[in-house]
Amino acid sequence: MPQTRMHTARPTPSPRSLLAGRIARGTLLVLALTAIGGTVATVMARGGGGQVKVPTTGADFFQPGTQPSPKDPTIDPIETSISCTYCHSGYGDQIAPYDTWATSLMAQSARDPVWHAAVAIANQDANIGGETCIRCHAPGGWLAGHSSNGSIADLQGDDFDGINCNFCHRVVNPELGPDSAVAYPGDPADPDVPIISALAAQGLVPSGAGNARFVVDPKSTRRGPFSDVPQNLHGVEARLITSPYHRQSEFCGTCHDVSNPIYTKNPKTGEFQLNALGAAHPTQNPGDMFPEQRTYSEWLNSDYVNGVQYADHRFGGNDADGVVSSCQDCHMPKVIAGGCRFYEFGPPFFERPDMPQHSFAGANTWVVQAIRDGMLPEDADSIGLSQAAIDQATARTITMLQNASDMSLTQQGASLKVRVTNESGHKLPTGYPEGRRMWINVKFTNAKNQVVAERGAYDSATAVLSTADTKIYQAKQGISPAIAKITGLAAGPGFHLALANKVFSDNRIPPRGFTNAAFNAIGSGAVGYRYADGQHWDDTLFDIPAGATQATVTLFYQTTSREYIEFLRDQNTTDGTGLIAYNAWLAAGKSAPVAMDSAVIALATGNPADLNGDGSVNASDLAILLGNWGGTGSGDINGDGSVDAADLAILLSNWG
Ligand code: HEC
Ligand code: HEC
Ligand code: HEC
Ligand code: HEC
Ligand code: HEC
Repeated sequence: MPQTRMHTARPTPSPRSLLAGRIARGTLLVLALTAIGGTVATVMARGGGGQVKVPTTGADFFQPGTQPSPKDPTIDPIETSISCTYCHSGYGDQIAPYDTWATSLMAQSARDPVWHAAVAIANQDANIGGETCIRCHAPGGWLAGHSSNGSIADLQGDDFDGINCNFCHRVVNPELGPDSAVAYPGDPADPDVPIISALAAQGLVPSGAGNARFVVDPKSTRRGPFSDVPQNLHGVEARLITSPYHRQSEFCGTCHDVSNPIYTKNPKTGEFQLNALGAAHPTQNPGDMFPEQRTYSEWLNSDYVNGVQYADHRFGGNDADGVVSSCQDCHMPKVIAGGCRFYEFGPPFFERPDMPQHSFAGANTWVVQAIRDGMLPEDADSIGLSQAAIDQATARTITMLQNASDMSLTQQGASLKVRVTNESGHKLPTGYPEGRRMWINVKFTNAKNQVVAERGAYDSATAVLSTADTKIYQAKQGISPAIAKITGLAAGPGFHLALANKVFSDNRIPPRGFTNAAFNAIGSGAVGYRYADGQHWDDTLFDIPAGATQATVTLFYQTTSREYIEFLRDQNTTDGTGLIAYNAWLAAGKSAPVAMDSAVIALATGNPADLNGDGSVNASDLAILLGNWGGTGSGDINGDGSVDAADLAILLSNWG
């Protein structure tokens, strides 16, 4: 596989030459592959045919909060993470903030090749559609005013530093009040008041979660949870501010609810309709916009708000009681360490029992590796992406995925029941819907340990999943007939993110404390599926095939499906980013599925009418069958999907 190089940003080549270089290399690659096999030759030509771009302008994507101010000398630009490394990196083993942050998806959000490819499609679908993507994935670049064309080609240098130290530690709580910030030492004035007042005067104070409506301190301050940090280490300008907000999920909620502002929900039909274009969203209420992601709102409507205790302490790191609540509890586990590298020297620096690890482990196990592989190794090393650090980050993510669910297996007569319980703080899976999925794989084996049947088989050579014979947990979004008419695209589920205005299906497993009413209200209800209130698990029944004596069941997660990455490659009519993302996916192992849970069950063979497997068909089996009458589950001896008279007849004919 020829190497394709992606945006690297550090060291910093000229952005235009970089993009030009990428396209040129992409084209060369097409030629090269054509010469080898001819398979990718049609890539650049396909797609687009007859599609009408929605004529949005920058105004349609406007959101409240701090606005870009490229030329204002009173506003400090976002500093690069490299300016923090002297004191916040290089101690402990994967402890220091920089060392773990660097290998997270949030650090790499602006170098992510899948994101580059998706932004290109967004700009094809809706004019300047990429503007909103840049605001959230590359906030430094957005604040610097590099997003007005919506194209990543306008991002430069440190814009690729992603969601970085200086950015997060300047974010201001938009709500003044009891949790307000305190500058120290001895400054009684709330430092947030002048910042929020200035925004209020312009009508820009954000309300409602999500859409990167952040408020950023114009000065390069350091806001963090502690009030006892030694002074003067950050320079006179960089005031230290204690910010309780940084320990709250609301802070993460700034970006972890994503709503498309070009649509407004029709309260009567529930349909999301395209706004009259050329103006900001009429209500600016995220709840009226199309709900692309709802991770924060899912959390807000779960039991995790009040804390959930895990006897096995699977989340939270060095917490005493095993209780976790906030996003930070699970995604920034507490470690025993100093917040800076001088703590080993003693006072005024010291070790903390609750230093938040900046690992932000989630579910993505391939993109950070692909970013390293798309750069020169020494360039990757210089931005914290050493192979050793990536390996540790990948291991943390796999652990996170394994902690996300529990699985139990039971045999019910002729069926195998697989129960998957969601142990995460939001839906499982949550967040970005396109191409992400979780599924159950079952291998039935016989007494000779030969596979007699497989369900949900995945072919790692072709990345093809057998979808018809198993349960796949995912959300499918797409476009309604009305939007199909405007754009010339086919109505139905798909991957046109910037145009999606309808949820076609969503069977992802809800978190503890789920209710249908609350989740429907936030736009994250089940669609085409049913969960009872409080149900944070899901059951799947598999017919046990003849001859099976054992089943091995594995729950898999995959970040990027073949269908999605091929879409990004084939629908790109504007630049080389789709092909670069596709090749990165190929080279990184096609987003290899991760096993979240695996278990083996010995299957009682014999009479399928012996529902409880006690060796005889008797009154207790009859009781099970009658107990499930009219439903599915145990008692559905003939496997026709319902426990009915036909099953009763089989049971009675096997009596004794
Ligand atoms: C996505 C936002 C985000 C990014 C990016 C981020 N931080 Fe933090 N940081 C936080 C939050 C939130 C906390 C507090 C978490 C808690 O205590 O639960 C924190 C805490 C800290 C602390 C306090 C720990 C202590 O013991 O003093 C330091 C230091 C710190 N961050 C430095 C950094 C540095 C350096 C970087 C870049 C390498 C960085 N942060 C990147 C959000 C972020
Ligand atoms: C010259 C050394 C030095 C540099 C450079 C430095 N810091 Fe710090 N920082 C410290 C020390 C020391 C602490 C105290 C750590 C502790 O007590 O846990 C600290 C603490 C912090 C805290 C915690 C504040 C609180 O109240 O919770 C944040 C946030 C932070 N630094 C952010 C940054 C960011 C962002 C950068 C780069 C833009 C940076 N620092 C650069 C030395 C430095
Ligand atoms: C109880 C622990 C817990 C809490 C609380 C929690 N998470 Fe998670 N989160 C997980 C686990 C486990 C995973 C991996 C499984 C998955 O992908 O859902 C995960 C995955 C994620 C992902 C990647 C999802 C994907 O599949 O692509 C994101 C994004 C995320 N969490 C954000 C958040 C945010 C934001 C919050 C707070 C509003 C939060 N999480 C609260 C445990 C938690
Ligand atoms: C400025 C917006 C912003 C803020 C604030 C933010 N995030 Fe993120 N987060 C993102 C974006 C964008 C991505 C996706 C990057 C990508 O995949 O390219 C992401 C990805 C993640 C992931 C997924 C990683 C994976 O492996 O799939 C987790 C987990 C996560 N964030 C947790 C948090 C937590 C916890 C906080 C608060 C402490 C937070 N985020 C605050 C924008 C943000
Ligand atoms: C308000 C914040 C926000 C905005 C706006 C936003 N995203 Fe994201 N995006 C996220 C978060 C958070 C994640 C990670 C969630 C997860 O891991 O499940 C993400 C993940 C992604 C991913 C998956 C990356 C990967 O490596 O798998 C792609 C692609 C993406 N976004 C594209 C876009 C595009 C295109 C746009 C603009 C049309 C956009 N995003 C706008 C927050 C945002």
